Amino acid sequence: MSKATESDVREDGVIEGVSGPVVTAKDLDARMNDVVYVGHEGLMGEVIEIEGNLTTIQVYEETSDVGPGEPVESTGAPLSVDLGPGMLDTIYDGVQRPLDVLESKMNSAFLDRGVDAPGIDLEQTWEFTPTVDEGDEVEAGDILGTVPETPSIEHKVMVPPDSEGGEVVSAESGTFTVEETVVELDSGEEISMHQEWPVREARPTVNKKSPKKPLVSGQRILDGLFPIAKGGTAAIPGPFGSGKTVTQHQLAKWADADIVIYVGCGERGNEMTEVIEDFPELEDPTTGNALMDRTCLIANTSNMPVAARESCVYTGITIAEYFRDMGYDVALMADSTSRWAEAMREISSRLEEMPGEEGYPAYLAARLSQFYERAGYFENINGTEGSVTAIGAVSPPGGDFSEPVTQNTLRIVKTFWALDADLAERRHFPAINWNESYSLYRDQLDPWFVENVQEDWPEKRQWAIDTLDEETELQEIVQLVGKDALPEDQQLTLEVARYLREAYLQQNAFHDVDMYCEPQKTYRMLDAIKTFNDEAFDALDAGVPIEEIIEVDVAPRLNRIGVQEDWDEYIDELESDLEAQIRELY
Ligand SMILES: Nc1ncnc2c1ncn2[C@@H]1O[C@H](COP(=O)(O)OP(=O)(O)O)[C@@H](O)[C@H]1O
Ligand SMILES: [Mg+2]
Repeated sequence: MSKATESDVREDGVIEGVSGPVVTAKDLDARMNDVVYVGHEGLMGEVIEIEGNLTTIQVYEETSDVGPGEPVESTGAPLSVDLGPGMLDTIYDGVQRPLDVLESKMNSAFLDRGVDAPGIDLEQTWEFTPTVDEGDEVEAGDILGTVPETPSIEHKVMVPPDSEGGEVVSAESGTFTVEETVVELDSGEEISMHQEWPVREARPTVNKKSPKKPLVSGQRILDGLFPIAKGGTAAIPGPFGSGKTVTQHQLAKWADADIVIYVGCGERGNEMTEVIEDFPELEDPTTGNALMDRTCLIANTSNMPVAARESCVYTGITIAEYFRDMGYDVALMADSTSRWAEAMREISSRLEEMPGEEGYPAYLAARLSQFYERAGYFENINGTEGSVTAIGAVSPPGGDFSEPVTQNTLRIVKTFWALDADLAERRHFPAINWNESYSLYRDQLDPWFVENVQEDWPEKRQWAIDTLDEETELQEIVQLVGKDALPEDQQLTLEVARYLREAYLQQNAFHDVDMYCEPQKTYRMLDAIKTFNDEAFDALDAGVPIEEIIEVDVAPRLNRIGVQEDWDEYIDELESDLEAQIRELY
């Protein structure tokens, strides 16, 4: 986070009033979005409104002891993040202060007043290897060299986006702090390993491209029915206890992103503590290294000040964009965007702005779309390609999806994973409702699945969707007249749909094997159920009574594919047993 230096501190202002996180000051020489220090304790805040000589500030820390007459000073710089090696394997608060530094400075987490801490360690040294030579011409964004940031990730040191560029006059390999010059240009510009960027501004790119690759999640219902693209956007709305956080964790652990930015935004205090305690223990399934080696956590619990909650998603997405600029695929999870929207609402009401729907500010929709707009598959200014995938949980009060945050998010995101209280209550997990959920990326991702998994991936999926749709319709009839009143072929459809739900859609996030399902296994599970379907319908056509068909002892083995480590052989055997047993009936 940018700090004031002697030269840019401007004239002091004086506090006029304090209303929770919102402070007004008069005679402050500051611009919109400038970071300011408020009161004798120097609490960090940001200018959000200027009217005449009255400046309104949102303060990122508890303001209870601050009063009128105390000084306010401006840093003259907007709220920015410090970008450089050292962000991975780190836990920040909403304004990029490392929690461990805050803790050691105050001996207590979550009680941060007037404590400033740089976003990246200024003393730590890193091994820099230049990838440019003296005499090379470089432009804004160009990669100058690499740093082994963690065992999993090579950090790329880049020319800052606002640089004029020039000819390299020196590029030294060696061990440096992030503030030391590693590359010098003929313009006199000295480039170090860190740069700052204002959080409310998207980092520049050449253009946004149509995403073509899935973010493979290892979750069958997602990859199989409602896939998200690398560079895509998704919302996970659901009532309390329906599995939003578990789904976000599964994605953070298993999705094939290079980098994960996990923003825990104002959810219950203990939930964030779990993340802070759990994540550092986790292993990255692809490398065997620590998961934190490719992860940055931004933790804002509900007991942290509301303004820091407002800023945490911006801090997160700016860090995500920075890694995207290096050519990485970044996945950002925000849990939950509702808490962020509530922070907006609270600040807006303190400002006495005209409230919109349910008290949310009129600019709620604009803020949500500005955030999701920053996701995408991009051609970067240095010629690399990278992506930011944004996945936001939404926690509508009472699980009512008609409320403003859910509705506005729905209009923006292209993937919708609707969590359902009834499914969760029946312990059907993940409790993603297959009737309400959708992915608008399906068609554009199909070529990838066809090429990398199986030719008839789209057809198998369509069959599953059709069968589940038919089940939904039949269920209505069953409610009225009972299952036995249905013709036998419809009873059989219900049986097949049951396997789709129980064997395929259900997936236990806490089972060692089932927690992750590679796309090939996802495909073959569907294939096995389809084999049962085809054999069973043939038998029915041949006049075998339905009871005999559905009671073949091999069929329930479908329910155990998920937990098989050697699923390939298991499915081979299962399919041939299904064929043999059912054909024996006629
Ligand atoms: N995929 C899953 N597999 C197994 N259990 C799950 C799964 N998803 C959710 N659950 C169960 O539901 C509980 C609540 O989930 P959680 O993600 O905390 O809900 P939310 O964040 O929506 O309030 C979890 O503690 C877990 O027991
Ligand atoms: Mg949760």
